[in-house]
Amino acid sequence: MAIEGGSMSSRVKYGAVASLAVVLLAYWYRPPVQDALLDQRLDTVLSSLLKAERKVGMNSFSRPRVAVGFGGCVDIIVDGVALLNKIGLQPSAHPHHHDYIQNAQQLAESFAYFFPPGAASERFVKNRTLFTQLVEASRELLDNRCPELTEVLSHHITVAGNAVEEPDIHLILEYPAGATWGQYTSRRANRYIIHSDEHNPYLASMEDFGRKLREFQPDLLVVGGLQMMDSFPFNQGERRALLGRLAGLLSSASPATGVHFEMASFVDEALLAELLEQVLPRADSLGMNEQELPNLLSLLRGSSVTVLSDPYPRVATVLDQMRELYRLVNQRRRGGDGRRLSRLHVHTLAFQAMMVGRGSRWKNTVSAVAKASLTANRHVCGSPDIDPGKAKLIMDESFSVSRREGSRRIPLRETRPVSCWDEDDYQVCVAPVLVCTEVYQTAGGGDNISAAGLVLQI
Ligand SMILES: *[C@@H]1O[C@H](CO)[C@@H](O)[C@H](O)[C@H]1NC(C)=O
Ligand SMILES: *[C@@H]1O[C@H](CO)[C@@H](O)[C@H](O)[C@H]1NC(C)=O
Repeated sequence: MAIEGGSMSSRVKYGAVASLAVVLLAYWYRPPVQDALLDQRLDTVLSSLLKAERKVGMNSFSRPRVAVGFGGCVDIIVDGVALLNKIGLQPSAHPHHHDYIQNAQQLAESFAYFFPPGAASERFVKNRTLFTQLVEASRELLDNRCPELTEVLSHHITVAGNAVEEPDIHLILEYPAGATWGQYTSRRANRYIIHSDEHNPYLASMEDFGRKLREFQPDLLVVGGLQMMDSFPFNQGERRALLGRLAGLLSSASPATGVHFEMASFVDEALLAELLEQVLPRADSLGMNEQELPNLLSLLRGSSVTVLSDPYPRVATVLDQMRELYRLVNQRRRGGDGRRLSRLHVHTLAFQAMMVGRGSRWKNTVSAVAKASLTANRHVCGSPDIDPGKAKLIMDESFSVSRREGSRRIPLRETRPVSCWDEDDYQVCVAPVLVCTEVYQTAGGGDNISAAGLVLQI
């Protein structure tokens, strides 16, 4: 079972990629004698990870049931001209600057205004019917790109559907330099963005989702995509009420249903604080990256959110943060009506780390961590088959399990790359990532990696 990449052109979306490139360059310029040794090491790690991943066969007769909340597609990126052609919109001979778009004619005039000079623009579409038509047409276009959690999971499991039918979507009409639309030619590459964020899309759909959930009785409920709320213009008190409803919904989930919450980079500290209070205590499992971990931790400690943290943290640092997070989250829950955190997955560029409570519901941790590692490469390289020629190990040859003095070091064994050990009432597993050196895509990687781990654990 493979995580496949889409048919997408290589996209570099996040600034982190620039720093990634620097690290990768450093590895390209290593001395040649070391090369052969390193290559062999890499091959062994790869084959061992694949073996670990395969240990768990997905039983297709009893596909686990998973419900995904808020996994909506936020940005749909399409070829602008292809989309206009698809809906049969003729180029307008009268370019015009509209403040907002009410009908298809105005869209044609507005696009004709911005497209030839290649000027960036973002317009509000006041006509819901038109916007829905555009979104539907975009989804039918072969090359639309949309990082979506639901999509990832649906390859492996039955998904109940999204909480939100039409979330706060931004439709991004891209065009390269020299693209033509009727009599117009774009002078440079750019994008024309349309959106329709008129009302709060969540409030209406929350009840619907609750109903679906009761009928569906999933094995796992995944809550993600809440970063959409980060920039949403809520009315006073609306967001709080909404998260209260989400909390109610999560509380009503059967104890047999596992609840996973996937973090995201929240800019709004107030929102993060509300999530901490309302959502986190109702999840059994958390997934996040090396930036989100210290952020959440500083909030739990009562200090303000760390703005920037080390993009290449050491294993010991991450494990210490994970231990503290695990402890603090569970401490806050004591006496409350929430669930106990029993799974914590942190994905970083260089390695995957997971803590799983002993005797908890989560199975196959070793295979899941191996799969998460492999998925990181598959996703970024955009191929289900891992080419060792496009992979590098950037994790050290051994790592310390903690920054505390006298902590034990664990060597990275090529033949058993997933290292696991017991602590307190949980197991810790760490696996190196075969970092992809030919970046094809980075967006949506966190969701894909988290989902890859989860599918083997339910
Ligand atoms: C909204 O768009 C639809 C579909 O393009 C169109 O039929 C309708 O006339 C538009 N409404 C207004 C008020 O322009
Ligand atoms: C994540 O993986 C799935 C396949 O499992 C793939 O279809 C999807 O395109 C990936 N996500 C992104 C953003 O590429």
